[in-house]
Amino acid sequence: MAEPQSIPWEQQALHIAIDTIQEVLPQKPKDQQEALHMSLMTLRGFLAATSSIGEEDGEALTSMGGGGGGELGGSALSLDAGRLNKWQRLLAERREAAGLSHARLAELAGLSESVIVNLETGRYAPSQLALLHLLSVPEMKLEVADLPWEAAEVDPNFALNCWLAPGFDPVKMIKELAMQVNGFGGHIEQSYLYMDPMSAADWCSIADVKDYDDMQASMQLDRAAGLILKNTGKMGLDVVALGPGSARNEVRLAEQLLSQAGHGDVRLYLLDISQPLLSVAYRHAAETLADRGGVVFAIQGNFHHLPRYGQLLYSPQRAHRRRLITMLGHTFSNLENELRFVRNSLVGFAAGDMLLLDLRMAYAPADNPEQIKERDPGLLSIRRNTNSSSSLHQKWDEFLAGPIRRYGVSKVDVEILRVLDLGCPVPGSYGVDARARVRSASGEEREFSVYYSRRYDATRLHQALAREGWDLVDSWNYGGDSNPCKLFLLRKSGPALRLVD
Ligand SMILES: C[S@@+](CC[C@H](N)C(=O)[O-])C[C@H]1O[C@@H](n2cnc3c(N)ncnc32)[C@H](O)[C@@H]1O
Repeated sequence: MAEPQSIPWEQQALHIAIDTIQEVLPQKPKDQQEALHMSLMTLRGFLAATSSIGEEDGEALTSMGGGGGGELGGSALSLDAGRLNKWQRLLAERREAAGLSHARLAELAGLSESVIVNLETGRYAPSQLALLHLLSVPEMKLEVADLPWEAAEVDPNFALNCWLAPGFDPVKMIKELAMQVNGFGGHIEQSYLYMDPMSAADWCSIADVKDYDDMQASMQLDRAAGLILKNTGKMGLDVVALGPGSARNEVRLAEQLLSQAGHGDVRLYLLDISQPLLSVAYRHAAETLADRGGVVFAIQGNFHHLPRYGQLLYSPQRAHRRRLITMLGHTFSNLENELRFVRNSLVGFAAGDMLLLDLRMAYAPADNPEQIKERDPGLLSIRRNTNSSSSLHQKWDEFLAGPIRRYGVSKVDVEILRVLDLGCPVPGSYGVDARARVRSASGEEREFSVYYSRRYDATRLHQALAREGWDLVDSWNYGGDSNPCKLFLLRKSGPALRLVD
């Protein structure tokens, strides 16, 4: 049998540094803790990056694992002969009881047949990663307690840290925005609204308004977390937060997941188009989650390009983890075509992966425009808009008009008006289309659609999502009568990639 490998010295050094900071952190004055939290997260990120080579790169995996860890690499566990024999017998017994050949088990676990054979004959001591893969095969009925390790030895830090997503070009996007606001009119896709630091600051000042934050905080994230963990079972969880903004909701959710799971195998990936917002989000997440064992990764990228970001998606190497995609703060309802987004941008997730969305419900049926206009506060406020808007309303208008004011070549007046949009992709939904009416000094007028905010019929929405392969697990109301909103948890029913028949 090959010699078990020890943890590389770089990882040992990182573990020592992390433990030391964790120990001294609570004794430091509050004003020094922030810097230490950030250092802790950065070190965890480095540790994750060094561990993740084995997860992401087949070549490196082979060399890292050597003979001892098999092709999946990672450090082989150092085990005594008695434990190892017991494990070999158990593996063979469970495989035979499940009626699986070596080849079939290898296929289900995402390992090679030779690794399975070598693990059963004791030629290899198993690596942590190989054990995790075996744990993800339900037919084997393996429990964490069956594996030849202590649960506490599992290192949750298996992934990359900070990322600039491939092909992402914010400079090009800002130029496109400038071209568009100087054009004749049309729709400005919502991604462009958050990109520059002033837009990010305007968004943060909306998120800071007490009424807004109170409404968001009433979302039943604790109940959603309980059900997410039930569906995750014993697997590790990757939370892929699309458009986290200042990450208040996402961090609330991560806190619930970490406290209810009772273990730290939760990774939070923050993916945002806006660099300034991503910094705010990362700082908040790092400060809040650092001493609870969570791991946070910040990625500047475009969620419309998600299928390019392989590390966030399902792959056989990550079959031992579940993914939860979140799109909170009603962002889903701002997309041009929500169903096409699910169909095309969420294509890389696998059966069992989950999706969490918060959305506003319809104030009246979509086929009754008169009733909608009477009841929907988003449309009613237009009539009051001219003299006395609420502070929240004014902040929204400043946020929506900001890019046109900043990137227009000439000075313009911008007025935001809201109109009813009945041509929405999800059956039973309607939209409030915020339109910027732009007047130049010469009197020339142009009009841009700057923000869609859709309202849904819950049943027809989840029927439409089910047709896209995402089934409803549960939903929870929040926001009361004046802001009827729902949090939806969905689960992917189909395979990772749908092939055209
Ligand atoms: C309405 S805010 C929601 C913020 C947060 N999730 C919440 O619950 O309050 C939308 C967020 O999505 C981000 N965003 C918009 N378009 C994006 C895109 N194409 N790719 C990645 N992030 C995007 C924005 O920068 C912003 O942070």
